[in-house]
Amino acid sequence: MSTHAPATEPDQDTISHEWLSWTRMADFSDHAPPLIVGGEGPYVIDADGRRMFDGVSGLFTTQIGYSHGAELGAAAARQLETLGFYPNWAATSPAPVELTGQVTALSPERLSRVFFTSGGSEAVESALKMIRLHWLGRGEPLRRKVIARRGAYHGCTLGALSLTGIPGARAPFEPLLPDVRHAENTDRRNYPDATRDSAWLDATTAAIERMIVAEGPHTVAAVVLEPVQNAGGCLVPPEGYGARLREICDRYGILLWCDEVITGFGRLGAWFGSELLGFDADVVTFAKGITSGQAPLGGMLFTDDVAAPLLDGGALYAHGFTFGGHPLACAVALANLAIMHREGVVENVRSLESHLDGLLAGVVDGSDLVVEARGRGFFRAIELRDASLLPAARDAIRRNGVIVRLDDRVNPCLAISPPLISTAEELDGMAAGIAAGLAEVG
Ligand SMILES: Cc1ncc(COP(=O)(O)O)c(C=O)c1O
Repeated sequence: MSTHAPATEPDQDTISHEWLSWTRMADFSDHAPPLIVGGEGPYVIDADGRRMFDGVSGLFTTQIGYSHGAELGAAAARQLETLGFYPNWAATSPAPVELTGQVTALSPERLSRVFFTSGGSEAVESALKMIRLHWLGRGEPLRRKVIARRGAYHGCTLGALSLTGIPGARAPFEPLLPDVRHAENTDRRNYPDATRDSAWLDATTAAIERMIVAEGPHTVAAVVLEPVQNAGGCLVPPEGYGARLREICDRYGILLWCDEVITGFGRLGAWFGSELLGFDADVVTFAKGITSGQAPLGGMLFTDDVAAPLLDGGALYAHGFTFGGHPLACAVALANLAIMHREGVVENVRSLESHLDGLLAGVVDGSDLVVEARGRGFFRAIELRDASLLPAARDAIRRNGVIVRLDDRVNPCLAISPPLISTAEELDGMAAGIAAGLAEVG
């Protein structure tokens, strides 16, 4: 095991004073939340010593699993001994520079500039503002609108939340930014007349084009989307969707922005999902997998063309976070990328993708509770027939040794995204645990 239980067990009373993210704290008024104390490979270990397969990779983060703490820690220690921190405000340091080189080398060719943040929502905010400044610099101040998609999650800060198309997440904080519109996503069930794949492609891309035209193309700054939309249950677009959207954006001079906070850094079996699916994006936001979640880091990649008006006009990018591109997080990211290369994790996802297809098809066939399994690479969801089944299903699967995430934001789904180092045998075990849990509920 790479990590160990803390020397002293956390005090039960103190646990309930930590306010948790996206949590109804009232649920924990009479019992403590799960306490995870360690990990090994794709497994985590809780305070009772139970070893569970981490079927969500933390939160779509932990590409390399939990056994590389010593190596990541040594990289972090070296960085702290050399330079504990220096801000990236009109200055830089070796770790973010080296990481810039590596990220631009791994990313689609046109994406030559990187801005680092501490996480995904900050990355999305940063892109939103970069795009505003781009169009101001181009002398097109009316291009402020961003077209996002229904059901998509892009973060929880108010700008990112404005792009988020989940009514329940938005409602308490409205009014949000006015210049955002939400077009229909790629869920095939939105297009009941589209019996053939080509008709589905036409219909789902036309939904975005119609919105651009209705709003007035000269007012639209960007289209933002995840290559595979998470909320809704891994909505994989039809073949050709990326290329068609690129054509539409080019037709109206609009920037195409792929939010790869989840799909970046290997999850779909390519370093960047936007490249795999042919989007040729102008802007890409990323986070999570760049450090395998083991230090907080995110950022955006963008093209020279996006940067040009700021460079030509000498404009200030009036935006940045004290801890953006923290040298410690960049050092951990570099160590993580070295491990990902060495262990061949992207290749692992590609080689096990069809094995995982088969395993999840077996889960679907074996349970009356399941509508279907969707996804690409190691980014999957199982949709259940009824949202009321989700908590019992999640808990039963957990009792069978597998952590999955309940996602009822759009469709009733269990999110399944194993660490990218998982072996065929470990995936077999995961699928068996899911099947056994569903059978208990069924
Ligand atoms: C597509 C996407 N964008 C943005 C975010 C926000 O990232 P963070 O939680 O790091 O702020 C998320 C988080 O899951 C995400 O999935």
